[in-house]
Amino acid sequence: MTDDSGGRGRISRNTPAWTREHAARLARTDDTVAPIIYPPESPIDPELHLWDTWLLRDRDGSVAEIDGYRVILALTSTSALLPGKRHDVATIRYSYSADGKNWHTGGPVFKNDAGEIEGDRPFGSRQWAGSALYDDGTVYAYYTASGQRDEAELSYTQRLAVGHGGTVHTDSEGLSIEGPWTHEIITGPDGDRYETEAQSRGMIYTFRDPWFFEDETGTYLVFEANTPVPEGSAACGGDQAQQEFNGSVGIAESPTGDPTDFGLREPLLDAVCVNQELERPHIVVRDGTYYLFISSHMHTFAPGIEGYDALYGFAADSLFGEYEPLNDSGLVVTNPANAPFQAYSWLVYDHGDELLVNSFFNYYDFDRPSLDDVALLPEPEQRRRFGGTPAPTVRIGVDGRRTRVLGVLDHGHLLLPHEPLPSSPFDGRGDRDGRGSYHST
Ligand code: FRU
Repeated sequence: MTDDSGGRGRISRNTPAWTREHAARLARTDDTVAPIIYPPESPIDPELHLWDTWLLRDRDGSVAEIDGYRVILALTSTSALLPGKRHDVATIRYSYSADGKNWHTGGPVFKNDAGEIEGDRPFGSRQWAGSALYDDGTVYAYYTASGQRDEAELSYTQRLAVGHGGTVHTDSEGLSIEGPWTHEIITGPDGDRYETEAQSRGMIYTFRDPWFFEDETGTYLVFEANTPVPEGSAACGGDQAQQEFNGSVGIAESPTGDPTDFGLREPLLDAVCVNQELERPHIVVRDGTYYLFISSHMHTFAPGIEGYDALYGFAADSLFGEYEPLNDSGLVVTNPANAPFQAYSWLVYDHGDELLVNSFFNYYDFDRPSLDDVALLPEPEQRRRFGGTPAPTVRIGVDGRRTRVLGVLDHGHLLLPHEPLPSSPFDGRGDRDGRGSYHST
């Protein structure tokens, strides 16, 4: 491939870019730092580690409300496991709530109460993050098929998959999601627009996290991927070390609106020479502006860029538009400098006047230079310092290409647009102190 990118030193595509110039502006500010998180009185379920969460939503993106309940799906494992091992056994479970505050865990999505798989077996040796559509009484549970069914050793192949046919039942006891499910692989990488595992030259290969999105132009899945950068490419001024960082936000379109049938299109955004992992991409549309959000880590930025474990965002005037970083750099919400890994895997949804941001309570009481250093701690300390439960919901204000952290709600408090936000931006839990910490009462 040649470099026809107008001097940006990138590979030849028209994909909007998160550039090194944008990323050079990354810096914590009062508008982007979330308050310090303290452990909740009780986690959502003491038996479980819970991380990446997504809401069951209708086709138009609004949160589904079924007989008064909202539903979240999340990656989970037993809390008996060393937290770093949880990705190897990740299981999607659902929880439901009538008030957005008190959550009841309902069980593994693809199994019944007796622990039996309902319908087909899900693809992969474990299932990673996705999204969930509730359409015409049917649940479409999108997920990442990680590895292969029955593999003897865990592999890191990733494909986008869906389980469909699930139904939701409510009674005086609560809510349940039941099969039988039909599982389908939607797509894998094509090796051209999207890198295959075999082409990958860098750290932590990605092709995952399908997120359903529909607007008047069509029906889509956006997902996390990497852009192929062949050896000897002119990208990053030919710098081989930087070229290994090639994250992208991919998109696939359904030709008919069928939520199980999608074909790959050109990526929406890439971060070649900048960052390897643009995780859990998702879109919020407000006043005709498309806001594209991703999560990323400090340690996945290319050499020479100092970034954070943070929520990053981009805006465009149309879905395939030229995305520009919010706040000039892309930084929207990050953790405080003295608790740099306290939260991760942010998910933004619209509440009307504000945006609300869910994430999970990750490692606290931990400020070593890298998340990789968690493994250096004795095992009991790795367990003690891992939250594994929803973090306080962050409230952000948005004005065009600018955003501002306004406050927080309680751990895992997910209000819907018709439920008013508390007038105190800190939900009555105390005041902001100095650079954005708050005290739990
Ligand atoms: C983000 C993430 C997702 C992935 C999952 C695996 O926290 O890396 O991209 O699906 O975790 O546990």
